[in-house]
Amino acid sequence: MIKTLYWNQNNLYILDQRLLPLKTKYILCNNHTKVAKTIKDMAIRGAPAIGVAAAFGVYIASCEKSFNSVKELKRHLEKAINLLGSTRPTAVNLFWALDRMQSLIRGSYKSVDELRARLKKEVFDIFENDVQVNKKIGANGARLIRKNSRILTHCNAGALATAGYGTALGIIRSAFEKRKVKMVFVDETRPYLQGARLTTWELKQEGIPFVLITDNMAGHFMQMGAIDAIIVGADRIASNGDVANKIGTYSLAVLAKHHKIPFYVAAPTSSIDFSISCGSRIEIEERSTEEVVNINRNRIAPIGTVARHPAFDVTPNKYITAIITEKGVFKPRNLTLS
Ligand code: MRU
Repeated sequence: MIKTLYWNQNNLYILDQRLLPLKTKYILCNNHTKVAKTIKDMAIRGAPAIGVAAAFGVYIASCEKSFNSVKELKRHLEKAINLLGSTRPTAVNLFWALDRMQSLIRGSYKSVDELRARLKKEVFDIFENDVQVNKKIGANGARLIRKNSRILTHCNAGALATAGYGTALGIIRSAFEKRKVKMVFVDETRPYLQGARLTTWELKQEGIPFVLITDNMAGHFMQMGAIDAIIVGADRIASNGDVANKIGTYSLAVLAKHHKIPFYVAAPTSSIDFSISCGSRIEIEERSTEEVVNINRNRIAPIGTVARHPAFDVTPNKYITAIITEKGVFKPRNLTLS
């Protein structure tokens, strides 16, 4: 399986997802500013993946120059964390990973090298744990899928959106291994086309049967009885089970309820933000209009056209059948992880 990001000889390499499926090229990130840019410009995207990348960014910041004291290093790391945290506001995994790095920085250290070593250990824990967590989500979710299912998914919540394996696509992978998946309906996911470019690419590599549809076809296929379940990822889940995910998720959930189709959200518990009570408190990233009026740098609307681009929407808990995590399957209004 192709790697979303990897570490080699003290450098981080991030797969440039903007070039997929046509080119496979990695960006060398040897300073934290570069890591922040890859996140902001969406070379790497997907909530868990940007969390992992940001954590690497903090460790890289500790190595990118020499420091005369622990205090000087800590000051530099604070600035790096601020920059990395300013890249994308919605996915809570970014802040979850940065908080983990920050808690370490608050400790006391005898030397610069000691703090560096702690940061390195922490980042590799975050990185390696993500794949394990996704495999558990996959196994927990696959149990809910019936034989011969036709599953619709939105955006890309696959290996590319994580350190590996994926969340929503992890469930599809696991269910496919158990011969439960007949067909995956892939929403193209305007405007950034994560479905058309990335999800199709992953499914093709795995030999999982799929069909690509434009976002506005989803209701039609539900009405035709062609969809048995919908599985999506999450960027942030409020404590009442409201879910922020890629723009278009809310419309799918409403349609699913109307057609009595189970609507599942797959996410690691690091995507749950217990500090907020409900989805209306989630900051929704508004991205550039250029991403709407152009497709692959080809202009599709007249010059001067104003476009809106909220990158995410919030699905209220009442539309969600279950939230599938590594710690089990929860009713959205019953998210207690103790
Ligand atoms: O803007 P993106 O591509 O970062 O948005 C990604 C999504 O909305 C995913 O569905 C979500 O992050 C879950 S990824 C496992």
